[in-house]
Amino acid sequence: MLLVQLSDPHIVEPGERLLGGIDTARFLREAIEHVNRLDPQPDLVLLTGDLVNEGRPEEYAHLRELLSALHAPFHLVPGNHDLTAALRAAFPDHVHGEAGRADGVIDGPLRVVTLDSSRYPEPGGSLDPEQLEWLDRTLGAAPDQPTVVAVHHPPFATGIAHMDTMALDAGSAAGLAAVIAGHPQVERVLSGHLHRHIVRRFAGTIAMTAPGTAHAVNLDLGNGRAAWNHEPPALLLHLWTPSGGVVTHLEVIGDHHPVSFV
Ligand SMILES: [Fe+2]
Ligand SMILES: [Fe+2]
Repeated sequence: MLLVQLSDPHIVEPGERLLGGIDTARFLREAIEHVNRLDPQPDLVLLTGDLVNEGRPEEYAHLRELLSALHAPFHLVPGNHDLTAALRAAFPDHVHGEAGRADGVIDGPLRVVTLDSSRYPEPGGSLDPEQLEWLDRTLGAAPDQPTVVAVHHPPFATGIAHMDTMALDAGSAAGLAAVIAGHPQVERVLSGHLHRHIVRRFAGTIAMTAPGTAHAVNLDLGNGRAAWNHEPPALLLHLWTPSGGVVTHLEVIGDHHPVSFV
């Protein structure tokens, strides 16, 4: 099973630009073209939040138009820029649940469990005790099934100070760790939010963030001001095979013209 993870497209209304000039729609188009060129095609494309920039229906309509070009099935996880109700109204078939939090399961050889950490318009995230209880029951129902858990806010501090101030709250991260630690079939905790690839050991598994499809958060491990940059957008490919488990690749988006060795 091949799972592609895209994150943080931050789509705005047609013709608008983000942060004074970023054409996020063009970047998402390029990401979709990249995914459409993959051979083999992914079984699922998971977008891990900040799907639009202000949670507005007009933005979700634009996102829907852009995603209509994607050949593979896709699923959407809300981020802090998303309003779950508006997201669900635009994508009733691509978001979990009919009301409340967008938590749910996509069954397959690699089981995908999604958690809604968004608290729009708060930049930080949290998970309710009921969500963690649901996660514990859900993971407990399929203990032998390799699983990834997707949640927009990573459950760990990254060292990028201004992003760590808008993290998953400490109680939620500790609660998530306690649940995950009890379910060793969890192969990954997959997040977005950071607009760059970061990996950490977490509760007996591996937690990581995906790069964004558009702008990157500047890598600043000092105490600099919040900044973004034009690093090449990238995606993550999580390949699961029965003999090899889950292997994760980062791939820079674009056509890089492969040349045969022979
Ligand atoms: Fe974001
Ligand atoms: Fe975010």
